[in-house]
Amino acid sequence: MTTPVLEARDVTMRFGGLTAVRSVDFTVNSGEIVGLIGPNGAGKTTFFNCLTGLYIPTEGTVAYQGKVLPPKPHLVTQAGIARTFQNIRLFANMTVLENVLVGRHTRTKEGLWSALLRGPGFRKAEKESEAKAMELLEFVGLAAKRDHLARNLPYGEQRKLEIARALASEPGLLLLDEPTAGMNPQETRATEELVFAIRDKGIAVLVIEHDMRFIFNLCDRVAVLVQGEKLVEGTSDVVQADERVVAAYLGEPFEGDPGEAEAAEVEAAEAAAEAQSADAESAEADSTTSTTKGETQ
Ligand SMILES: Nc1ncnc2c1ncn2[C@@H]1O[C@H](COP(=O)(O)OP(=O)(O)O)[C@@H](O)[C@H]1O
Ligand SMILES: [Mg+2]
Repeated sequence: MTTPVLEARDVTMRFGGLTAVRSVDFTVNSGEIVGLIGPNGAGKTTFFNCLTGLYIPTEGTVAYQGKVLPPKPHLVTQAGIARTFQNIRLFANMTVLENVLVGRHTRTKEGLWSALLRGPGFRKAEKESEAKAMELLEFVGLAAKRDHLARNLPYGEQRKLEIARALASEPGLLLLDEPTAGMNPQETRATEELVFAIRDKGIAVLVIEHDMRFIFNLCDRVAVLVQGEKLVEGTSDVVQADERVVAAYLGEPFEGDPGEAEAAEVEAAEAAAEAQSADAESAEADSTTSTTKGETQ
């Protein structure tokens, strides 16, 4: 059964004269892993920012489980959407465990006074939080590094820690912005498994990624964003075979800008070479060959 978890309707985001996201309708259903792909600058991260309350869309609405979300990041997290960032955002000087505990704070009910007085209620909650955080560290494979400082982790592990921290808010939907950027092929494979395992916990996943193998292996559905607009949406097979997607990624090999630019370049080079050899000939005729020496390359 497919029930929508996330429904974005007609989302537009403008920055001054630039329309980074244009009238995008987008749905993620429960149990789904959905991919969002598109060339650099297509508006993918901006769209994530609109979904998570970091930006207030110029137009349109975002609803989570049928309720329109207030455009405030902490309220969006509280509602049940968690995310990771394209540029990792961890507390570098906190330990691995502490970073995950920070992610849990939206789900702990203990108030400020309880925390200050460190009464029995607080200590019990703290114990529970720690146990939950350790479970998540086990889940992503970082339990052994619980006391390491986040900044000392290798890059791939920092990305995993970000995922653990996002999961600590007990989301129903997880948004991942380029989770395998900077990873080697083994780490990328492991991340694939991790995302499947997250989905199997009942968390829907929306993932931005440039690694097409990763996306097409993983996703039930893929949407392609080009210049802020949703160009194509469908199953991996459908999207992979779509000529417009190939064109958007590789440029148009037979016509259009890249081809024309290339042809113009070749033409200019030929004209230059011709002019040069004509120069050389007339120079030779003038018997001043020394002036053209070395210019033939
Ligand atoms: N805060 C901002 N202010 C102005 N322009 C922005 C801002 N954020 C993104 N943009 C612009 O919006 C476009 C889409 O960027 P982005 O969403 O980062 O693309 P992607 O994640 O697909 O690479 C780019 O042209 C970018 O320069
Ligand atoms: Mg981006």
